Amino acid sequence: MKGLVNGMKNIVVLVSGGGTNLQALIDAQESGMIKNGRITCVISSKADAYALERAKKHGIKTRVLVRKDYPDVIEYSKDMLKALQEEKADLVVYAGFMTILDELVTKAMPNKMMNVHPALIPSFCGKGYYGLRVHEEALAKGVKLTGATVHFVTEVCDGGPIILQKAVEVQDNDTPEILQKRVMEQAEWKILPQAVALFCDDRLEVKDNKVYVR
Ligand code: GAR
Repeated sequence: MKGLVNGMKNIVVLVSGGGTNLQALIDAQESGMIKNGRITCVISSKADAYALERAKKHGIKTRVLVRKDYPDVIEYSKDMLKALQEEKADLVVYAGFMTILDELVTKAMPNKMMNVHPALIPSFCGKGYYGLRVHEEALAKGVKLTGATVHFVTEVCDGGPIILQKAVEVQDNDTPEILQKRVMEQAEWKILPQAVALFCDDRLEVKDNKVYVR
């Protein structure tokens, strides 16, 4: 039937750090912005990530899969895929998740994993561009606009189909920390929940590597 959304989706959020993007998703769920999905599990690559506390405060199940406990990325990815399958994930969200998973995960879940990146892709992205480093490079280049991108995760690092982007102005006295905060407040915390809501409402269509919002 047209307009009927295909059930309530299980959202699994992957984190490694402070979890402010996870918080934006929790807030969006609690305010009713995300209607057709719920965060059923948060998986962290670090045992001491503050993101885990945020999840627990809201009664969300947590799991920890420490990257350093595995000999290589393949073994880590196999266990991650197993965990995602156990959690019956319909959507996987990288929210400050700092590990690149092997394609054995991304290929098993095509167009079902999304990532938020703190720049306007294809600028300042790819291997090595994460966290503050992205903003340091943007300031070093002297760009006047930066922003954030939410995209589907593929085997190409930061190379998957772009779902949403939002631009943010750079100011003369910015430090990497100040710029990071502005990009989060004005872009990441807005477009990540929006993209998740669109996905859960079955409104994202991928065709020829491009995303159309229906
Ligand atoms: C965010 O700025 C996110 O975009 C970035 O790390 C930060 C995590 O903050 N992710 C990447 O750089 C991935 N390439 P958070 O833990 O407070 O959400």
